[in-house]
Amino acid sequence: MKLILVGFGLVAQRFIQLLLKQEFLLDPKGNPSWIIAGIATAHHGLAVDPDGINPDQALQAARNNALPDLHSRNVRPSVPDTFSFLETAINALDLREYSTRLVVVENTPLGPRDGQPGVDHVRTALTLGAHVITANKGPAAFAHRELVDLAKRSKRKFLYEGSVLDGFPVFSFFRHLLPTVRVKSFRGIVNTTTNHILSAMEGGRTMEEALSHIQAEGISETDSSNDVNGWDAAAKTAILVNSLMGGAITPYDVDCTGIQSLSVNQLVSARKEGQQVKLIASAQFQNNEIEAKVAPVTLARHDSLMNCNGTAKTIEFETDVLGRIQLGKSQSGVNHTAYALMTDLLEINRHIHQLRVSDKE
Ligand SMILES: NC(=O)c1ccc[n+]([C@@H]2O[C@H](COP(=O)([O-])OP(=O)(O)OC[C@H]3O[C@@H](n4cnc5c(N)ncnc54)[C@H](OP(=O)(O)O)[C@@H]3O)[C@@H](O)[C@H]2O)c1
Repeated sequence: MKLILVGFGLVAQRFIQLLLKQEFLLDPKGNPSWIIAGIATAHHGLAVDPDGINPDQALQAARNNALPDLHSRNVRPSVPDTFSFLETAINALDLREYSTRLVVVENTPLGPRDGQPGVDHVRTALTLGAHVITANKGPAAFAHRELVDLAKRSKRKFLYEGSVLDGFPVFSFFRHLLPTVRVKSFRGIVNTTTNHILSAMEGGRTMEEALSHIQAEGISETDSSNDVNGWDAAAKTAILVNSLMGGAITPYDVDCTGIQSLSVNQLVSARKEGQQVKLIASAQFQNNEIEAKVAPVTLARHDSLMNCNGTAKTIEFETDVLGRIQLGKSQSGVNHTAYALMTDLLEINRHIHQLRVSDKE
């Protein structure tokens, strides 16, 4: 497979480090069965080489701001923006050989108001004939139906497993293990930063102390306003609705309240009563419409979402065939997100293999 990396920050670098460790992704000579054909960043330069950029050198170059040193001399050196970069990188490849084995790995930051530039990157990549995998919430939160339809028409995959539960494969779980099962509603805890803040406030810390602690620990971004005001959870809610309930909503359709107005007293007293206040993302059908919501909720003593603390995440689904199903994980982290991207890549690998087998038959 040929990988083109759009965004080469924390997640994309960890993804490449993870791929390098996988023996099953080595060819019989012990070389990786994938190559990096291009890398784009916003401020740290870019590189295109259809013969492959050495992954170790790429990781080193990212640390030293030296990506342009890896640019092939045979490819037009000046690529003014990410869209021209994608065209240049894809056109430089021999598409007769690689047409179905080209994967764009989109990991730019979430554009919180419109999902850009991720939406346009995914649209461009699918239009140019690449599969796309991404941990960026923007594309599936703001343009899910359009991008899924485009992928189908282009006979390519658009996968975003890492966008909601990091490494836990919630979308492929339903796609592969529960075919035909319909999700009627869900509710869950999907934002790490706010869950961590609420857990710390239960222990008596103020919201400001809790926030600066998790920023210092690197668990949360320096600008956590989109976590605290519930917008990140709203984006994840939109993705779950679009992907698992057949909806076509954006975060603007989610009735959203953050945790700003919660006090330490409220959280401590709830705990004393055996209850917990959590930021809950939920959606349900109401008169054939989908109602989606993010808001703080006081959970009763035996609620199944209780005791999901710190960086844990959980979602409880109500399904038509199997009743209630709860999925969750006790920790979150960038390694988990990198793992999700790897599972997306393996799904494309299997798909390509099946295409080859059916071509031969
Ligand atoms: N970190 C996590 O644990 C985690 C978990 C789940 C999902 N995600 C999602 O995964 C995505 C990547 O996260 P991250 O932590 O890797 O972010 P990051 O470290 O900030 O890296 C973002 C990368 O995107 C590049 N970039 C920004 N705009 C670009 C553009 N227009 N064209 C090309 N490249 C561009 C940046 O380049 P410069 O550095 O040159 O600006 C950087 O290389 C985000 O959407 C995030 O929400 C992250």
